[in-house]
Amino acid sequence: MNILFIASEATPFAASGGLADVIGSLPAALKKASPEDDVRVILPLYGTMNAAWREQLTYLTNRTVTLNWRNQYCGIFTVTYRGVVYYFLDNEYYFKRGSLYGEFDDAERFAFFCRAAVDLLPTLGFFPDVLHAHDWQAALSVLYLKRKYADVEGYKDIRTVFTIHNIQYQGKYGFELMNDVFDLLPSDFETVEYDGCLNLLKAAVVCADRVTTVSPTYAKEILSPQFSYGLDPVLHAYQGKLTGILNGIDKELYSPSKSPELPASFHVNRMAGKTVCKRELQEQLGLPVNAETPVIAMITRLVDSKGLDLLTLAADTLLEEEDVQLVVLGTGDFYYEEFFRRLALRHPDRCRVTLRFDQVLAKRIYAGADIFLMPSRTEPCGLAQMICSRFGTVPVVHETGGLYDSIRDAGCEGGGNGFTFASYNAWDMLYALRNALELYRNHDAWKKLVRRVMLTDFSWDASAQKYLELYRELK
Ligand code: GLC
Repeated sequence: MNILFIASEATPFAASGGLADVIGSLPAALKKASPEDDVRVILPLYGTMNAAWREQLTYLTNRTVTLNWRNQYCGIFTVTYRGVVYYFLDNEYYFKRGSLYGEFDDAERFAFFCRAAVDLLPTLGFFPDVLHAHDWQAALSVLYLKRKYADVEGYKDIRTVFTIHNIQYQGKYGFELMNDVFDLLPSDFETVEYDGCLNLLKAAVVCADRVTTVSPTYAKEILSPQFSYGLDPVLHAYQGKLTGILNGIDKELYSPSKSPELPASFHVNRMAGKTVCKRELQEQLGLPVNAETPVIAMITRLVDSKGLDLLTLAADTLLEEEDVQLVVLGTGDFYYEEFFRRLALRHPDRCRVTLRFDQVLAKRIYAGADIFLMPSRTEPCGLAQMICSRFGTVPVVHETGGLYDSIRDAGCEGGGNGFTFASYNAWDMLYALRNALELYRNHDAWKKLVRRVMLTDFSWDASAQKYLELYRELK
C-alpha cells in the first residue's frame, strides 16, 4: 500500500508543536510495523529549516502550480529520514518567512501548498492508495482531491484520511477568498461554508473518507459544544467516520540513556544518573541544590487551554505551603508570561521561569524534575506527559482528552502511572499535587511509582497498527 502524509510541520525539519512530533515519527512507525508499505510525506520547505538539514536535501525538479489566476514556481526537494521519503515543496515567496504560521496570507500559502501537493503526484511518480492529511493547513488537499481530481486517471481511487490534532484551529476565512484564493467553485460553497464563514477543517471533515483525532477521549469530547469550538453539529453528522487513535512518542528521540544533552544518562534499572540530572538542573537554574526538595516542572505553550488559569489561583499557595521548587519553560501569551515572571520574583528560592523555546533545556527539565504538571483544560493528546514518563518524571494531569487516555491515578486499583484530577479547578489540582508530594516523601513507594511510570508503553507500536487497519479498511 502507498500512503502519503500531507502536513505543515515535522520534526526535525520544522516544528511549532505536537503535530511536528507526530509527522516526524508516525511514518517511520508505520514503516516499521509494515515494511512492505511505502509511506511518504509532503511538507512545505520553510526558510527556517536549519542549515544542516537544508544541506542534506536533494533537488528533484520544479513545476509551475496554478491556483486560479496565479502561476507559481514550485521546486521539489527530498530527503530520506528514518527510511521514509520526505518531500519539500519550495516557493520562497510563500515559505521563506520568519515563522511557520501567523502570516497575513496563511490562507493563500496553504492553499498553494495543498494544490501543489495534489497536483504534483504525477511528477513525484507516487500515487498513494491513502492520502492522509493533517490539520487545517492540509485540509484543502482533501477537498481538491475530491472536487478537482475525482475523475482524473491515477487519482480516482485515492482514499483520504483527515486527522484533527486540535479542533481549536480550523482555518476560518471570509467568503471573498472562495474563488480568488481557494480556487473553488460555487458548487463547493455548501461543503466549505460553516457558521457564516469559510471553514477549511469543516470541508475536510465533510470530504474525507475517514476522520481521526489523536485520542479516543478527545474523539468523544469534540462531539460536545464544550470542546468543539462550534463544530459539534458537523462532527455529529459525520460521527460514523470519526475515530480517536492515541499518539505515541519516538522512544529513540526521548530516551534517558541516549540523550547527549543530559549531564548524565540513566535507565530504569540504573537510576543514579537522574539524581545527577536533578542536581545539575537546580544548579543551572540557580535554585538551591537539594536532592530532597521535589522539583515540579511545566513545559508548555503559555496559552489558556493549557490550564494556566489554575496556576494563577494556586501557585502562590503551593509555593508558600509546600517545600517544592517550580520550574517553568515556554513562551506564549503576554498575560501568562507576565504572571510567571512575577511569580518567580515573589518566590526567588522556589521558582524559575524561562520564557523561551529551548529544546536542550526542555530535555534537561524532563530528566531533572520529579513531577510534571499538565493541568490542560483541554488536550487532544498531549505528548509531554509521555515524554516526562520516559525520563522518570511523574505526571500530574487533568483528566481530559489524551491525558485521560494515557495517565491513571496512582490511587487506582492496581496502581497508576501518575496523578490525576477530574474536575477542572485549582483546588482539585492542588489536591492531586499534594497526593504526589506525599508519596514523594515515601522513598520506596516513590521509587516503585517512578519505575511503573518509566515502564509504561507509550511507543507508536499499538497505534501504528490501528492506523494500518484503518487504511486497509479503506481499500
Ligand atoms: C496538537 C494537540 C496536542 C497533540 C498534538 C499532536 O498540538 O494540541 O494535544 O498531542 O497536536 O497530535
